[in-house]
Amino acid sequence: MANFIVTGGAGFIGSHTCFSLLQKGHKVIAIDSFFNSSKNNLRNIISYLKKYDKTVETRLNIFKCDIKNENKLRKTFKSIKSTFLNIDAVIHFAGFKDSNESINKPLDYWDNNVNGSIKLLKVMKEFGCRTIVFSSSAAIYDASYCNDIISEDSEKNPKTPYGRTKLVIEELLQNTYESSEENWRIANLRYFNPIGASPEGIIGEDIFHSGSNIFPAILKVANGYKSKLSIYGTDFNTKDGTGIRDYIHVKDLADAHIAAVDYLNNFKREFVCLNIGTGKGTSVIELVNIFENVNNCKIKTKNLEKRIGDFPIVVANNKKALDLLDWEPKRTIKDMCLDGQKWILINSKANKIKK
Ligand SMILES: NC(=O)c1ccc[n+]([C@@H]2O[C@H](COP(=O)([O-])OP(=O)(O)OC[C@H]3O[C@@H](n4cnc5c(N)ncnc54)[C@H](O)[C@@H]3O)[C@@H](O)[C@H]2O)c1
Repeated sequence: MANFIVTGGAGFIGSHTCFSLLQKGHKVIAIDSFFNSSKNNLRNIISYLKKYDKTVETRLNIFKCDIKNENKLRKTFKSIKSTFLNIDAVIHFAGFKDSNESINKPLDYWDNNVNGSIKLLKVMKEFGCRTIVFSSSAAIYDASYCNDIISEDSEKNPKTPYGRTKLVIEELLQNTYESSEENWRIANLRYFNPIGASPEGIIGEDIFHSGSNIFPAILKVANGYKSKLSIYGTDFNTKDGTGIRDYIHVKDLADAHIAAVDYLNNFKREFVCLNIGTGKGTSVIELVNIFENVNNCKIKTKNLEKRIGDFPIVVANNKKALDLLDWEPKRTIKDMCLDGQKWILINSKANKIKK
């Protein structure tokens, strides 16, 4: 059993990772400003897991803290240290995530993502905590001319302020690793397109605060919160003209973080960047068709111009992650579509989903 700090632990990917960590018997300290989430995801996890394991309530601690607030973060770490003595690893999700929004709000994105990460690293260093897994993104790559799958050393040239913040944080982490004799262990996980929800239907993405991502938009149309799905770009050089992406089930992605910490624990010092995707591409039209078939519904669509940063094909070469980690993605696009819709159906019935 180990002690994990999870920044952004109440968010979409963070809460699924807290769920997996708690299921595996670890202690979890979730730090979140709740800017884009509430405690509900974490409460739902506890209500579900305590049916099987009475210790779970004692293994989850939640701290409200904006990681940009260095003094508060320091106090939070102090309080965590006095309770848990040892922090084995930090999994760092806290950040803003909407590529399109970042084009109009670059200062907010640089401040929250980069400044927040600097504060976190400073406080980690003070408290002798040197193991971190960071949420990076496929948005760091230049996929403009990419008609092949993207490997970790493919061209980097983010097209949006969001992508630039992710690349700069990776560089910051690399500088931190290289600049000292200290034994930092760092994994940058470059996610492709996480979608779906917990198969139990207890946690999922907040579809009203998920930016312009395709899957929450499909869920909105399927459940009557929006009339039509906007498809950005139908004249890409792809099999059906729509963009091809590498969708990965959020639970598989969550498990990759635990596998990454296990991997880092084999070393005294390590710095690694890994693509986390399935290696399989699915077009927007294919995704919509699969969603309609497995959920027996109709998604009306409207075709729009492609946006800045939209590339025809963004698919991971995930060989390095498969080779280095004791991990592989297990769930299919059908699973992602079923689980995503199940989360909405269960929670809108219980009136927990609010616009
Ligand atoms: N969802 C995706 O498609 C995707 C893809 C690639 C990378 N990522 C990255 O993964 C991470 C998690 O994404 P997500 O989809 O779960 O997003 P999310 O918005 O659901 O979760 C982020 C969490 O961080 C919290 N947060 C934001 N700024 C904070 C701050 N300064 N201090 C403390 N908490 C803060 C939010 O309240 C939220 O709970 C983000 O860093 C995102 O950029 C996401």
